[in-house]
Amino acid sequence: MTEALPFPQDRTCPYHPPAAYRRLRDGGPLSRTTLYDGRLAWLVTGHAEARALLTDPRLSADRQNPGYPAFSPGFEMLRQVRTPLLGVDDPEHNVQRRMLISSFTLKRATAMRPRIQEIVDQLLDAVEEQGPTAELVSAFTLPVPSMVICSLLGVPYDDHKLFEGLSCTLLQSSDPQEVAASQARLTEYFTDLVTRKQEEPGDGLLDELIAERLVTGEMSHVELVHMAMLLLVAGHETTSNMLSLGIFTLLEHPEQYAALRADASLVPDAVEELMRFLAIADGLARVATEDIEIAGETIRADDGVVFLTSYVNRDGAAYTSPETLDWERSARQHISFGFGVHQCLGANLARATMEIAFATLFARFPGLRLAVPAAEVPAKPGYTLQGLIELPVTW
Ligand code: HEM
Repeated sequence: MTEALPFPQDRTCPYHPPAAYRRLRDGGPLSRTTLYDGRLAWLVTGHAEARALLTDPRLSADRQNPGYPAFSPGFEMLRQVRTPLLGVDDPEHNVQRRMLISSFTLKRATAMRPRIQEIVDQLLDAVEEQGPTAELVSAFTLPVPSMVICSLLGVPYDDHKLFEGLSCTLLQSSDPQEVAASQARLTEYFTDLVTRKQEEPGDGLLDELIAERLVTGEMSHVELVHMAMLLLVAGHETTSNMLSLGIFTLLEHPEQYAALRADASLVPDAVEELMRFLAIADGLARVATEDIEIAGETIRADDGVVFLTSYVNRDGAAYTSPETLDWERSARQHISFGFGVHQCLGANLARATMEIAFATLFARFPGLRLAVPAAEVPAKPGYTLQGLIELPVTW
């Protein structure tokens, strides 16, 4: 077994996994890692092993379990409040998921396409008008998914500055006090919103949950508030990072970018390959509830387990030339949307949003390029979702 490397680590190139882990490739699919608080956990880099473990009921997603790996001091604050879905095991998880599943089917995502197209067109009109330069995170990659999730949930987009700022602090601040304050403010915001909606119903998913689950007593007011927070945060930060990092990566890969611009029918495969390649949720976490034998190692009960998505998605046993961005390959087996019971609920919606956003941007701005050298584009730190802080472009 190789010596325990620290997790997380910053990426040196925003679209490549941290180079420090490269030597793990010569070791086994599982190794040991040291977390920021000095505790040891397992680091999974093998594709087959990751998929086996992510579907193993002996691994728990319960963040309140003391053995669950924490990646920053801010997370210690977050885990004091029970996260629905993501932080809950079956059978409770299954009950919660079943309440939402019909709102996230492929059919529902397809039905949302005209609205997504409208949002994308409207934002790109503004970008074009104010050009020929733009900062695309604030002008495009953040507002697109933010408007989409607001539309789905029935959250007023007028409040976006407030909830985007709070979500950003929740996910990115390493200061526990700051995280606690943002969590409290976001809870207050949704408590008020749910109360207002009870008095004056609208037509979003939150309104449906109030009518179908809150009124019937299947969900309490507090549970609904926490669910709304999860859906809003998970629904916009993730897709925003994929869009910003995806655009940047394409601008740095002119050949693949040209192929995509020449043939828009490649976009769905390109989205899947970008998902594999970029692995923006680079460190899924679980804790073992029983001993598990795998790949010649024993994960003991209470051990923390971290899945290094970026390496799992580039395992040479699963993909030929994994370091290459290749629209022709079948990338579907990646774990960037997770795998197993917690596999991303919003994957259909995220795919539809990315397909429309990329295709429309590339068609409307054929001369798109970075406005500063690539090395000067600021990227997010290793302990949070991977993405860009700003994306200055010109055309
Ligand atoms: C490209 C964008 C997205 C990425 C990369 C992404 C990634 C992920 C990943 C990796 C997980 C599994 C986490 C784990 O196993 O610990 C997950 C779960 C989840 N995602 Fe996404 N996500 C994206 C978009 C969305 C959207 C648009 C929504 C809409 C609300 C959403 C809602 C959720 C929810 C509710 C879960 C928890 C599912 C469960 O525990 O059953 N995600 N996502």
